Amino acid sequence: MACNKVKMVIDKEFRIAEIDERIYGSFIEHLGRAVYDGIYSPEHPTADEHGFRNDVKEMIKELNVPIIRYPGGNFVSSFNWEDSVGPVSERPRRLELAWKSIEENKVGLNEFTKWARSAGSDVMMAVNLGTRGIADACNILEYCNHPGNTKYSDLRISHGYKEPHNIKTWCLGNEMDGPWQLGHKTMEEYGRLAEETARAMKIIDPSIELVSCGSSSLTMPTFPDWEAVTLQHTYDYVDYVSMHQYYGNGKGDSEDFLACSDDMDQFIRTVIATCDYVKAKKRGKKDIKISFDEWNVWYHSNAADNDITENHPWQVAPPMLEDIYNFEDALLVGLMLITLLKHADRVKMACLAQLVNVIAPIMTEAGGGAVWKQTIFYPFMHASAFGRGTALLPVISSPKFDTATHADVTAVEAVSVYNEEKDEVTIFAVNRSIKDDAEMTIDVRSFEGYRILEHIVLESDDLLAENGPFNEKVAPKQTSQSSLDGGMVTSLLHKASWNVIRLGK
Ligand code: AHR
Repeated sequence: MACNKVKMVIDKEFRIAEIDERIYGSFIEHLGRAVYDGIYSPEHPTADEHGFRNDVKEMIKELNVPIIRYPGGNFVSSFNWEDSVGPVSERPRRLELAWKSIEENKVGLNEFTKWARSAGSDVMMAVNLGTRGIADACNILEYCNHPGNTKYSDLRISHGYKEPHNIKTWCLGNEMDGPWQLGHKTMEEYGRLAEETARAMKIIDPSIELVSCGSSSLTMPTFPDWEAVTLQHTYDYVDYVSMHQYYGNGKGDSEDFLACSDDMDQFIRTVIATCDYVKAKKRGKKDIKISFDEWNVWYHSNAADNDITENHPWQVAPPMLEDIYNFEDALLVGLMLITLLKHADRVKMACLAQLVNVIAPIMTEAGGGAVWKQTIFYPFMHASAFGRGTALLPVISSPKFDTATHADVTAVEAVSVYNEEKDEVTIFAVNRSIKDDAEMTIDVRSFEGYRILEHIVLESDDLLAENGPFNEKVAPKQTSQSSLDGGMVTSLLHKASWNVIRLGK
């Protein structure tokens, strides 16, 4: 085994941008066991008076998630929000077309919003631009945000919610470019509908922020024309364009899999370039920012999910998208977090998709058993805890290698975050070589008087190691693999490892 030599320079003056804490957002969709048998389980011993599990909520709080996207996802494209409000006993049982399930509407937008706030999160609400349109988007906004004395605000008050929810962030539909989406649209159709919906919504509440639907992934055939065309319609009324990206590992080629964050980086660069092209064409003044509101690894559950939709449809809360993540998935999640931080000047919101049971860091045993942490829980928890402040430009020189589908892959990817308030700087680094350790020297001369607070590492001899209930094989630990001398940190990064190196006074 060789030891790669990696150099990094960080300086408190080399700023990318202040990090918007909403990049540590997540997502809960009415899908599988995310809501029912996930966050909500009235029979569970830890359930509160509203039926929400306290043990799950406590684990969510460990992730410190500032915003949660809701209610979908594909689900939103046939969602009738009116079904989800009012007395629970009067709410309808409906066919849910996106995932071929039964939606009982026991949890709706009021209960969810109240629950999210009690978990320390705001709600990013999506409106249905699949099977519905402008009028319904206006009605749900009036219901949620208008103080009172109108049809829908009074309806909310009659449902027991006197104060408006004041939901600030709204998504104009979901993945409207995807043929799988109910009511999916051409770019012209979506651009016009989103423009008119946005214009109307901002008349009702000018304080809201709107997200225009971007491409569903880097590989969509209409990318990036979709962004270029739709944003020319929506530019004046929206603040963000959405990005979505999931990675699979079908061939089991670990190094190629870990190089996927380079594709994510290129995806973000292209979307920024396209937003700036539209800004120039419109002779505009504002930058469109990015809401990367679905990102994760997703592939383990594909066959089981197809079996449910094809052979066992119309169940209540079936176990869908229950990917059990392994250690290398956690490494890629760490790399994706580093990529988001490197673009902190334009990526202002991001949602790890999703939060509980559905491609999630947090799992509950079916039928109300234990709650447990997947491998991917940890990089997200570390980034959310220590990745607040100013993202600093990573000046890195690292050996590179080629993988099956990627060229010039750096062995080590890293970024640092300076928290001025706490007088701390944190370096997040992944050694994505699965063969070689790396010795990283980090020039930290601008951080005079700092010392190493800790070096946390997530590593495993087995790239495929998974966690389970009462069986945590992959968990972070402290190491003494970093030292600081004369303004230089020297850190040993084991092959295939996620590292959090914290410096402070
Ligand atoms: O997060 C799971 C699904 O992935 C969402 O419903 C959809 O938006 C995306 O395709």
